[in-house]
Amino acid sequence: MSTSNEEPAVALVPITATNFRPVIALELEPDQRSFVATNVYSIAQSKVEPWWETFAIEAGGELVGFVMFGLDPDDGIHWICRLMIDKNFQRRGYGRVAMQTVLADLDSRNGCDEIRISFAPENHNARTLYESLGFEDPDLIIDGEVVLVRQIPSLDR
Ligand SMILES: CC(C)(COP(=O)(O)OP(=O)(O)OC[C@H]1O[C@@H](n2cnc3c(N)ncnc32)[C@H](O)[C@@H]1OP(=O)(O)O)[C@@H](O)C(=O)NCCC(=O)NCCS
Repeated sequence: MSTSNEEPAVALVPITATNFRPVIALELEPDQRSFVATNVYSIAQSKVEPWWETFAIEAGGELVGFVMFGLDPDDGIHWICRLMIDKNFQRRGYGRVAMQTVLADLDSRNGCDEIRISFAPENHNARTLYESLGFEDPDLIIDGEVVLVRQIPSLDR
């Protein structure tokens, strides 16, 4: 999956034996680390919960982040459950374009009429980003996290 035009060129690439080590070495600022599970945890989780799809985020030929999403069989809802951009690559538009790429993929899937995302209440940057991408706040808290919802009108597909 990839995007182009005036936005930064960002590609989502599978986790492989080649990029696994650099992916788990990606870092956040210390005050961001509580906002998202480590990449090694997420990749391990996706092995035992194989409905989670994991991708490295590449930009300009460099590995810059990680994202995990999928259809949770427990509730039948598509969740984007992890997103991180390495501290050295933040604020360049990569997180936004990676999200747009994931949303375009999920929007096109049969049976995906709603996408949910959750984050820590104090993570104001995540909220601003997600609301700018069409997520709305139904005033739902799950496991202490704010849940935002993006409805996909069936007429659009
Ligand atoms: C949230 C995160 C993924 C954003 O990635 P990014 O590549 O830096 O974001 P972008 O450059 O694409 O910016 C997208 C928007 O996010 C918001 N944002 C991101 N970082 C911000 C910051 N430091 N201050 C203010 N707004 C910020 C802004 O709304 C920004 O839009 P703008 O540039 O038009 O102002 C990144 O900061 C991150 O990895 N944070 C730690 C982990 C996390 O919180 N993940 C999300 C919850 S699971």
